[in-house]
Amino acid sequence: MAEFTLPANSKIGKGKTWPTKDGGKKVKKFNVYRWTPDSGENPTVDTYEIDLEACGPMVLDALIKIKNEVDQTLTFRRSCREGICGSCAMNIDGTNTLACTKFIDEVDGDVNIYPLPHMAVIKDLVPDLNRAYAQLSAIEPWLKTASPTPPDKERVQTPEDRRQLDGLYECILCFCCQTSCPSYWWNGERYLGPAILLQAYRWLADSRDEMTGERLDALEDPFRLYRCHTIMNCSKTCPKGLNPAKAIAEIKKMMLARQA
Ligand code: SF4
Ligand code: SF4
Ligand code: FES
Repeated sequence: MAEFTLPANSKIGKGKTWPTKDGGKKVKKFNVYRWTPDSGENPTVDTYEIDLEACGPMVLDALIKIKNEVDQTLTFRRSCREGICGSCAMNIDGTNTLACTKFIDEVDGDVNIYPLPHMAVIKDLVPDLNRAYAQLSAIEPWLKTASPTPPDKERVQTPEDRRQLDGLYECILCFCCQTSCPSYWWNGERYLGPAILLQAYRWLADSRDEMTGERLDALEDPFRLYRCHTIMNCSKTCPKGLNPAKAIAEIKKMMLARQA
C-alpha cells in the first residue's frame, strides 16, 4: 500500500499513525485531517489503520470506530447516519459528500478525509457554518403572505404547483455544494452561494408565497446572485442529486422576465 505523502510545501504536517487493533487481513488506511485552531500547532494528517472486516461499510462507520476504539479526540459531526440531517458533510477522496452515505469500497487506496474546503475550522472535521446560516436567515426561508389567512387556515396547492418544489425541498443543507463553489470560496462574504440560492428559489417557486417581488429585489445585486458563473461544481457534488446551478439559472430567468 502506497505511503501517504503531503506536498513538500504543505503547512499540514504528517501526524501520528495508529496501527489496527483488530489485526485483520483487510486493512485500509484512513488519512484524517486534525487541527485544533487555538492549540498554536499546525494542522496534521493522522493515519488510522482499520480492519474492514471489523467495521461497517460506510466512511462514517470507520470514523465512529476510530472515535470509539482508537482515538477519542477525533472530532466530527454526525447525527442521522442515513443522509437526512446533512451534518456529516466532509471532503472524502477529493469530493464533498456525506460520510454516512459514502461506501468505503468506493474509494481506491487510502481514504483521505478533510473538512469541507474553504471554511474556518472549529476542530478537525468540523467547519464553522455560522456565515452560511446567517446567509440562510437573510433569504427569509419561510412562507410569506400578504392576503388574509383562508377561513380553514390552509393555503392549498394544486398537484402541479406542488411538483414545482420537487428537487428543491429535498435539500438537507449539508453545504457540500456551497463549499465546492469557486465563486463562494473567493466571494463568500457577499455571494450567497448555491445552497442558499437553491433555498431562495424554493420559496420563489412556491405558489403560496406572495412576496416574489420583494424576494427578487433582495437578490438583485452584483454579488448575492450574479457571482454564479455556471461552473457547475455544485450540481456535480450534491450528495442528494439536486441541481443548485439550475435553481440559480431559474432565479436569473425570473429576474429577466420581470425586466421585460
Ligand atoms: S454553478 Fe454557480 S453556484 Fe454552482 S459551482 Fe458554479 S459558480 Fe458556484
Ligand atoms: S443542494 Fe445538495 S449539496 Fe447543496 S446543501 Fe442542498 S443537499 Fe447539500
Ligand atoms: S449523519 Fe446525517 S447526513 Fe450523515
